[in-house]
Amino acid sequence: MDLGLADRAIVVTGGSSGVGLATVRALLDEGARVATCGRDAERLKNVAATLGAGHGRLLTEVCDVRDADAVDAFVRRTAEEFGAVDGLVNNAGQSRMKALDEATAEDWRDELELKFAGVLNPLHAARPHLAASDAASVVNVNAVLAKQPETRLITTSAARAGILNLSKSLSAELAADGIRVNSVCLGLVDTGQWTRRYAAADSGLSYEGWQAELAADRGIALGRLGRAEEVAYAIVALLSPRASYITGTSIDVCGGVGRSIL
Ligand SMILES: NC(=O)c1ccc[n+]([C@@H]2O[C@H](COP(=O)([O-])OP(=O)(O)OC[C@H]3O[C@@H](n4cnc5c(N)ncnc54)[C@H](OP(=O)(O)O)[C@@H]3O)[C@@H](O)[C@H]2O)c1
Repeated sequence: MDLGLADRAIVVTGGSSGVGLATVRALLDEGARVATCGRDAERLKNVAATLGAGHGRLLTEVCDVRDADAVDAFVRRTAEEFGAVDGLVNNAGQSRMKALDEATAEDWRDELELKFAGVLNPLHAARPHLAASDAASVVNVNAVLAKQPETRLITTSAARAGILNLSKSLSAELAADGIRVNSVCLGLVDTGQWTRRYAAADSGLSYEGWQAELAADRGIALGRLGRAEEVAYAIVALLSPRASYITGTSIDVCGGVGRSIL
């Protein structure tokens, strides 16, 4: 099936690793033009060298999504180079492993800032360009934590719920401009977040053994962590003009760890 993404211009935040990187790769495979950002210049340079060489369809820029001016400049450059912005994937970020008694006021402030600025800054910057597109789609990368909070991740769970709520409002608000807004809610996906936690845990287990224990502990029905490309598949489907009647919804990509039936 042709997803109709060839030559579409898509902004993916946080495309130097994990889900963002898999999404950039999948979009390039579909013939889209992709702009991505992250904070670490070296990692972005590697992505550009690996995926971008030669075809002029990948733009990378150092940009922290919490910095509205930097995000404006990144999106402006994307629109100048590609002549359009048809899609936006708000993916950049990470979770914060803090329980109630560990989370400081700064943790709460930082977590809420990252999650909300990570959606609102790129959206504000891209909105006029999205409104000019005939197939505008925004995908917010969220977590099942939004619907199923975990006390060990109390700040992230609360922020995630807020973002799911915000996504619904945005879908209603932006429909008049023809901009669809949806979410993907991740369970546990094998990316940099988990390799860092494996290293920090120093468990003495192999990475595979540690993952299997984690999957059992968290009750993942499919018995394993997800792969970044399995999430990218759902994101690309929501970006496709073929998903033209899908807005205001969320898709769980979580191997069955989600218990919510809504
Ligand atoms: N993996 C999971 O199990 C899981 C579960 C639920 C939700 N999620 C969410 O899914 C998204 C992707 O996660 P991932 O697992 O793919 O993580 P990852 O492998 O750590 O990649 C995160 C990406 O975001 C970038 N990034 C982080 N903070 C940024 C900022 N302030 N400004 C710009 N770029 C930033 C990182 O680059 P730099 O570090 O160079 O900036 C990197 O490119 C995140 O929002 C995460 O919270 C992941």
